[in-house]
Amino acid sequence: MQTTTLGRTGLTVSVAGLGCGGWSKLGQGQGKSIAHSVDIVRTALDSGVTFIDTAAGYGTEEIVGEAIRGRRDEVVISTKVPIYAGAFSDIDNVIDADALERGVDGCLARLGVDCIDILHLHAVLPSQYDHACTELLPRLTRLQEKGKIRFTGLTERFNDDTAHRMAPRAAADGYFDVLMIGLNFVNQTALTSVLPITSANGIGTLCMFAVRGPLARQDTAEALVRKLVATREIDPSTFDDDAPLAFLTAPGVAASFTEAAYRFCRHAPGMDVTITGTGSREHLLENVASLNMPPLPRQVLDRLGAIFGAVTSESTEV
Ligand SMILES: NC(=O)c1ccc[n+]([C@@H]2O[C@H](COP(=O)([O-])OP(=O)(O)OC[C@H]3O[C@@H](n4cnc5c(N)ncnc54)[C@H](OP(=O)(O)O)[C@@H]3O)[C@@H](O)[C@H]2O)c1
Repeated sequence: MQTTTLGRTGLTVSVAGLGCGGWSKLGQGQGKSIAHSVDIVRTALDSGVTFIDTAAGYGTEEIVGEAIRGRRDEVVISTKVPIYAGAFSDIDNVIDADALERGVDGCLARLGVDCIDILHLHAVLPSQYDHACTELLPRLTRLQEKGKIRFTGLTERFNDDTAHRMAPRAAADGYFDVLMIGLNFVNQTALTSVLPITSANGIGTLCMFAVRGPLARQDTAEALVRKLVATREIDPSTFDDDAPLAFLTAPGVAASFTEAAYRFCRHAPGMDVTITGTGSREHLLENVASLNMPPLPRQVLDRLGAIFGAVTSESTEV
């Protein structure tokens, strides 16, 4: 397993991170057993993954806690407390510092650990960023002093912030140690608007949405290409109309569509850890292998840039 340094945290972590949320939630999203999901986490650890991302809202912290029991020292744990107090859609209703601390205590109890390595404020919108800095960050600093958390993070709400209105500010301000950013070969905007700033300021970076929704399969990804042509975000002259993405799995490029998608993110300049979400042991092992492979060939990256470089609206959420 290849490793990297997570920005100024100085933590050495695997380039492949296991995501315990998204659609799969370690298989809980598809009705798999708890034992199945615990096995996914342990399989990840056995294959060299040392970065695990979960959240209060995923319902998987206890599964992670069970899976890492006796192996706490092998793993960097990233978890999150939502910045919104009520419904996800009620964006003006944000938590206060006391609610944040109660949230962190809940994470610690469910994970069964004494300290969280990276505590993120979850799904922060541009309009909520100032509140995160002025009201919540001072309490996170207190929680660091108390030894409950080691480092601070923010995740963007990529579905509603596909052009990254929040993350560049956070990267430039440098108040938080780590940022979780949406990036995939369809929406490449983070390459120019976020990652150069995080790199310059030593902010650790985590990639979400590398393979999600339509990007898990070639046919659904090609349907997305056609949709983006219809909305005029893609110029149809940039691809072969019969099979717009077949070049990704041409001989000498990638063995599978998901392999190409993960390798794109893994080698994005300035991206530290690419998170893979899956409820399947086989997919997990395949994805870990993909994330340890070399970059896609330069001409393939150029072709992806030519097709998708102007897309700013898409998170690939379904
Ligand atoms: N704002 C936030 O904080 C936020 C938002 C989103 C995500 N995240 C984090 O990022 C992680 C990853 O999320 P994501 O959006 O990238 O993924 P995701 O929602 O888990 O979706 C990945 C999809 O790809 C499929 N897949 C994975 N590997 C595959 C393979 N080799 N072949 C075919 N299909 C495959 C999975 O299905 P199978 O289960 O069948 O493999 C799943 O449907 C989450 O778990 C979470 O930790 C954070």
